[in-house]
Amino acid sequence: MGFFEPFALERFFAKHEFSARYLLCSSDCESFPIRELLAMEEGAIDRLLDQRLGYTETRGAPSLRAAIAEQYAGLGAESVFVHSGAEEAILNLYLAVLKPGDRVVVNYPCYQSLSEIPRALGCDVARWEMRRGPDGAGGSRWFLDPDDLPGLCGPGAGMIVMNAPHNPTGSLPTREEFEAIVSYARRTGAVLLVDEVYRRLERDQGSRLPSVCEAYENGVALDVLSKHSGLAGLRIGWLASRRDDILDAVAVVKDYNSICSSAPSETLAEIAVRNLERIAARNRGIVAKNVALLEGFFSRRPGFAEWTPPAAGSIAFPRLSDGSDAEALAERLVSESGVLLLPGAYYDYDRSYFRIGYGRANMHEALIRLEVWLDANGK
Ligand SMILES: Cc1ncc(COP(=O)(O)O)c(C=O)c1O
Repeated sequence: MGFFEPFALERFFAKHEFSARYLLCSSDCESFPIRELLAMEEGAIDRLLDQRLGYTETRGAPSLRAAIAEQYAGLGAESVFVHSGAEEAILNLYLAVLKPGDRVVVNYPCYQSLSEIPRALGCDVARWEMRRGPDGAGGSRWFLDPDDLPGLCGPGAGMIVMNAPHNPTGSLPTREEFEAIVSYARRTGAVLLVDEVYRRLERDQGSRLPSVCEAYENGVALDVLSKHSGLAGLRIGWLASRRDDILDAVAVVKDYNSICSSAPSETLAEIAVRNLERIAARNRGIVAKNVALLEGFFSRRPGFAEWTPPAAGSIAFPRLSDGSDAEALAERLVSESGVLLLPGAYYDYDRSYFRIGYGRANMHEALIRLEVWLDANGK
């Protein structure tokens, strides 16, 4: 038995991602080729071809960090720390700031590394449960209740962790909820890590929250080009925080990890970051079309599954209406029709839930295949 429990979702994808024909549960938006990225800026091709293939700076190329800092009001390049994907940033941050026995409050369900790494480090991890309730407009919504925090944090949680927009439910706190969470963290001095990798994919642009690194002096924001930008192959993510001491501690860890990111990826990432709104807008277009298709699907198929419509992101978390095991269904579905859904069991959650992804351009084809299979199986 190693240090960590296996990452259930990654093992599931390792089994199916490159063989299933229709991925209907991916969390990233549609990717695009290097050629298209290079076409976004004059001189970009030459900059890439002239990029020397040496090491880069541990915290990221200064010009990339400056471009990322432009995304945040009031932060400079010194507040940005580039990593190889969000995943490396999560690991390095936790290794840098947590010690055994620390109380860490993490939203649940969650992307497994957000809770598993603190657990493996010997921290006392408390689950901050996502709830479902009325949305005030006749529908339902997933939400985190800020009033849960005092009970969960007890006399002194060192860190509160939330992912917003949320994987897998697509929920997004209201501004009031976000402010209540920040103000609780501020009262207790807790570090607030917000995994913001699905930010910029809000269905209503007015609902986009400020980044936690802008809103809170002890806030640490996590972002990556994989999801809103569809550029997972670059493996470029970052932490942004006004806590210099935290970033300094992360630097100590990174010297024992990747040391620095890939130089060509950083060059390409800089182009992407400078064109972030344009890239995210393209992906919001794909998402909006797909959400409309899913709305139709769920209203046609109440006997199959019910969903709580997502507020943001590229994934949602419906539930099989008969309460049966989504893993059994997913295994049959992928082997008989090539359509892949992600069972809720992989989030250590109620087995009747499953994750559906709507950031990909071919989602409509996957949905047609799913409906054909449902019809053939009388569902
Ligand atoms: C909430 C969340 N955080 C972090 C990550 C890791 O991102 P990356 O694979 O780009 O490192 C993911 C990937 O699915 C995610 O959903």
